[in-house]
Amino acid sequence: MIFVTGGAGFIGSNFILDYLVPGRDERLLNIDKLTYAGNPYNLAGIANDSRYLFSQTDICDETAIAALFAQHRPRAILHFAAESHVDRSIASPDEFIRTNVNGTFNLLEAARRYWNALQGEERDAFRFLHVSTDEVYGTLGPQDAPFSETTPYAPNSPYSASKAASDHLVRAYHHTYGLPTLTTNCSNNYGPYHFPEKLIPLVISNAVEGKPLPIYGDGMQVRDWLYVGDHCTAIREVLAKGKPGETYNIGGWNEKPNLEVVHTLCDILDQLKPKAAGSYRDQITFVKDRPGHDRRYAIDARKIERELGWKPVETFESGIRKTVEWYLANPQWVANVRSGGYLTWIEQQYGAQAVANPA
Ligand code: NAD
Ligand code: DAU
Repeated sequence: MIFVTGGAGFIGSNFILDYLVPGRDERLLNIDKLTYAGNPYNLAGIANDSRYLFSQTDICDETAIAALFAQHRPRAILHFAAESHVDRSIASPDEFIRTNVNGTFNLLEAARRYWNALQGEERDAFRFLHVSTDEVYGTLGPQDAPFSETTPYAPNSPYSASKAASDHLVRAYHHTYGLPTLTTNCSNNYGPYHFPEKLIPLVISNAVEGKPLPIYGDGMQVRDWLYVGDHCTAIREVLAKGKPGETYNIGGWNEKPNLEVVHTLCDILDQLKPKAAGSYRDQITFVKDRPGHDRRYAIDARKIERELGWKPVETFESGIRKTVEWYLANPQWVANVRSGGYLTWIEQQYGAQAVANPA
C-alpha cells in the first residue's frame, strides 16, 4: 500500500492514473481534503478499481492521519497535497501556511511515529517522498546558471516560502530522526487536469471562450516547462531508487518566456480550432504585473539523470500540442471546473480587463 496526498489535484491525479496501470497490484490510498483544486472527477475512470481507495481527509487532522497509518500500514507516503497557486498566496497566505507548513509537519510526525514502530525490512523500505518546487530557490538573472540541488533557498512569495519551510522540516526529520525522506524540486508542469487558474490551461480555456488572455507585466518572465507525465515518471524513479535524505531537481530543459508560450498556444489553436476571423493572438491583453514576480526559473536536472537515469520524454512542442488537444477534447471537464467562482477572484486581483469579454 502507498499513500498519495493531494491525489485529486493536477499532478496527483496524473500520478495516480499513471501508477495504477494494469498488472500493478499494489493498493493506493488517496488522501485529499478536496479544496477548490481537488476534483474527484479526474479519477472517475478508476473509482471502482479495487486497488484504489479514497479518504476525504485534511492533512492537518492529526487524529485522522494517525488512524490512516495504523489502519493501512503504507510502505511509502507521496506528499503532493498543497495550496499551489502563487497569486492566491499573495491574496491570502493563511491557508498556505496551514496546509503547506502545518500539514506537512503533521504528516512528518505521523510518519515518524509509525516508522519508529516498524522493524526489519518494513522499516528499511519505508519512504516519505515530499513533492516540492523550484520556486524555493527564488529568481534567476538572464545569465545565471540554472538552479541545482545546492543553490541556496531564497523564496519570494508566500507560496514558495511555505514550500521552503516544508522542505526544511523534511530535511530536519531526516537529519534529526533518520526518517527516510526524499525531496523533489520540480519546475512548472503542464498537461491534462491542470486547473484553469494557471497560465497554460487558463489561456487555452479563455481563448476558446473568446475571453482575454491576460499577460502579467511585459510577459518576458521565463519558466522551465515540464510535461506532467514526465514529472510522474521522475517521482516513481525517485521513490524506487532515490537515496534517503537526498533532494532531486526535476525539469524539462524547456525555458520559455510567458509571451512565447502564449503565442505557441494561440498558433496551435489557430490550426486546430480556427476562428471565423483573425487569430487567437488578437485576444492577448497585457495586465498589471504579479507583485514580487520572479523573473526566471530554470532547473539543472543533471543529478536525477546521472544518479537515477531519468530524463524527460516529451519535448515542449509534443507536450504542448497534446495538452491543447486534451483541453479541446474535454470541454465538459473545463466547464465543470469553470463554473466555480474563480473568475471573480482573478478580476479582483488583476482588474476587470483580465476577464472582460473583448467582443
Ligand atoms: P493542485 O492545487 O492542483 O492540487 C492540490 C491538491 O491538494 C488538491 O487536490 C487539494 O484538494 C489537495 N489539498 C489541498 N490542501 C489540502 C489539505 N489541507 N489536506 C488534504 N488535501 C489538500 O496542485 P498541483 O499543481 O497538483 O501540485 C501538487 C504538488 O506539486 C504541490 O505540492 C506543489 O507545490 C508541487 N509542484 C507543483 C508544480 C506545478 O507546476 N503545478 C511544480 C512543482 C511542484
Ligand atoms: O515553478 C513551479 C511552480 O509553477 C509550482 O510550484 C506552482 O505550484 C505552479 O502554480 C507554478 O507557479 P507559477 O507562478 O510559475 O505558475 P502560473 O501558471 O501561475 O504562472 C506562470 C507564469 O505566467 C508566471 O510568470 C505568471 C504568468 N501568468 C500567470 C497567469 C495565471 C500570466 O502572465 N498571466 C496569467 O493569467
